[in-house]
Amino acid sequence: MICNNLSINEKGHLCIGGQDTVELAEAYGTPLYLLDEDRIRERCRTYRRALQEAFGEEANALYASKAASFRGMYRIMKEEGMGVDVVSSGEIYTAVSAGFPMERAYFHSNNKTDADIRFAMENGVGYFVVDNREELDAIEAVAAERGQMQKILLRITPGIDPHTYEAVATGRVDSKFGSAIETGQAEEMVVYAMSLAHIDLMGLHCHVGSQVFDSDVFLRAAAILLDFAAKMREKYQFALRELDLGGGYGVRYLESDPELDIAENIREVGKAVHAQCEALGLPLPVIRMEPGRSIVADAGMTLYTVGTVKRIPGYKNYVSVDGGMTDNPRFALYGSSYTVLLANRANDAGEAFRCSVVGRCCESGDILQENVKLPADTKRGDLVAVLTTGAYNYSMSSNYNRIPRPPVVLLSGGESKLAVRRETFEDVCRNDI
Ligand code: LLP
Repeated sequence: MICNNLSINEKGHLCIGGQDTVELAEAYGTPLYLLDEDRIRERCRTYRRALQEAFGEEANALYASKAASFRGMYRIMKEEGMGVDVVSSGEIYTAVSAGFPMERAYFHSNNKTDADIRFAMENGVGYFVVDNREELDAIEAVAAERGQMQKILLRITPGIDPHTYEAVATGRVDSKFGSAIETGQAEEMVVYAMSLAHIDLMGLHCHVGSQVFDSDVFLRAAAILLDFAAKMREKYQFALRELDLGGGYGVRYLESDPELDIAENIREVGKAVHAQCEALGLPLPVIRMEPGRSIVADAGMTLYTVGTVKRIPGYKNYVSVDGGMTDNPRFALYGSSYTVLLANRANDAGEAFRCSVVGRCCESGDILQENVKLPADTKRGDLVAVLTTGAYNYSMSSNYNRIPRPPVVLLSGGESKLAVRRETFEDVCRNDI
């Protein structure tokens, strides 16, 4: 199994966090998002421990909440002592309404509107991660009007290609995010931010990409940013108090994907950062990382019920399920790989057939996965599990075809509880006049 929270019980049923998925599907219906809360907490602790060991007590991980955002998740993050990365007023609202301590929130986005900036300040967001010069002006204006200082980090583009898929690579000079060192714009931002009366420039941020396995990406990014900080100190007495290295550690979607030892990787980054700070004569900044996917992805699984099984002799086989691109658009968007199996007969090694597992939307591209091997007698009523769906599934879901979103159920210590209830048709029509 691709994650150690998965097992198969004596009935041949797939289990997650020790709980029988067939029973969960009966209790909550399908499609159904499951999230193993114990696993999420374990991942938070791994990050926090590794960061504090490598960089001292003040270092912390910020959960990139775009990966899976709902109130229960912010409560978990609060309890685990994590910070959060938020990217919109909607995420800020959700975090605030869950009682998250907003001084530990970092507000991202390449285009924060004036209303967003005001909303974030009114709600006590600790840090803005500033993308561009117009944003600096807008934050300065609102902070001045409110008579407050606003802590910020500047988002810097280090010019690194993280070797991941195009849609999630953000570290290159031509990225829509941040200001590049290479073009001189990052330097201009430092100088300008330091000149503003209501801006407290705490440090720098970078995020080079997502689903990254190259273990040296964080090392290279940190090296480039520390070098840049040293130059800025020399020229302008800039003090780097905080350095946020972003998120991006990859997770296993397939058995063939490598397994990253995140704690070990953080140790390596720690050694390199200490050595470089010493060499440059820089005090060690407070270090942040912003993992999203690697906190929640393999805690998740989606369950579906099989409907139509269509065989087109000589061509293709389709297994249609009761969800699809509305609850998981990642294959349609990125061609993402997933491990798919029958949850109600997980040991069934009978004669296999190749099929595309597809959704119920009126759209040919509504595919969850192609080239899946399922038992040849897969039939209506079987339970399909798509693994590793904890990140960027619920948060990217839609109501296309007016399909209500599935519920999110959290699993912990052998118990299950609803974290997001299943949408109703009335929910789907809620805003229709
Ligand atoms: N920090 C920043 C500034 C980010 O933009 C992101 C992700 C993260 C942290 C978290 O990265 P992670 O640890 O999750 O890789 N929808 C895409 C992923 C988009 C990632 C956007 N930014 C997907 O489904 O693969």
